[in-house]
Amino acid sequence: MNQPLLKAVNVKKVFGRGDNSVTAVKNINLTINKGSMIALKGRSGSGKTTLLNLLAALDQPTEGEVFFNGQIISKLPEKQRSHWRRTHLGLVFQAFGLIPLMSAYENVEFGLRIAGNDSKLNRAQAERALEWVGMKARMKHRPPELSGGEQQRVAIARAIAHQPVLLLADEPTAELDSRMGLQVIKVFRDLVENHGMTVVMTTHDPGIMEIVDHVIALEDGEIVTESNQSNS
Ligand SMILES: Nc1ncnc2c1ncn2[C@@H]1O[C@H](COP(=O)(O)OP(=O)(O)OP(=O)(O)O)[C@@H](O)[C@H]1O
Ligand SMILES: [Mg+2]
Repeated sequence: MNQPLLKAVNVKKVFGRGDNSVTAVKNINLTINKGSMIALKGRSGSGKTTLLNLLAALDQPTEGEVFFNGQIISKLPEKQRSHWRRTHLGLVFQAFGLIPLMSAYENVEFGLRIAGNDSKLNRAQAERALEWVGMKARMKHRPPELSGGEQQRVAIARAIAHQPVLLLADEPTAELDSRMGLQVIKVFRDLVENHGMTVVMTTHDPGIMEIVDHVIALEDGEIVTESNQSNS
């Protein structure tokens, strides 16, 4: 099943103009297949977040194109890109971004509500997402009553409740110790194996490299190696 889901062709991103301009990524050519789990690694400033934001259509390339299922997404106007994101994309960040006064369930359900989803389905979708990340039993708890790893799992549930095919995560384990980080990565792996998702994450964590299918290494904004892991 090597069907391409995401594709970047000759992508370049320059921030600013003239003497102050910074080329954050360049010469980016990559294909991410459906049902795979990819890690982007590289030193601070190597362009990981920039590339992730371009793949998420949160930002647009200065040159080149990003395709999703064969359709150009990078050239769409913001309104259509935002519709695309709400439909197909889940996003997870380093700081979990949960609302402390809401329970885990309410956080996930609220995410669906502000995205304008059909409220009749919200309860079932929120509970299903919490079940997928192993947090259903604790869904009445508020974030301050949960461990960091548990909070991140709730944030993942919020990101996947609308069942996107693509989940992008920017350093999702950076705030966690290695044991909890591993727990979170195993949740991603399970979403890929059992729930049809494709995951792209940035990371500094060497332990994660063994669990993903491919590691893409960036250096000064360019891809320097793309390694195939044994289980791909
Ligand atoms: N909005 C922006 N305006 C100007 N320069 C930017 C902007 N965003 C990123 N950059 C620059 O682009 C380069 C790549 O940044 P990016 O955030 O993608 O790196 P990163 O690999 O995610 O780093 P880290 O590991 O620290 O998160 C850096 O030199 C950064 O300063
Ligand atoms: Mg970054």
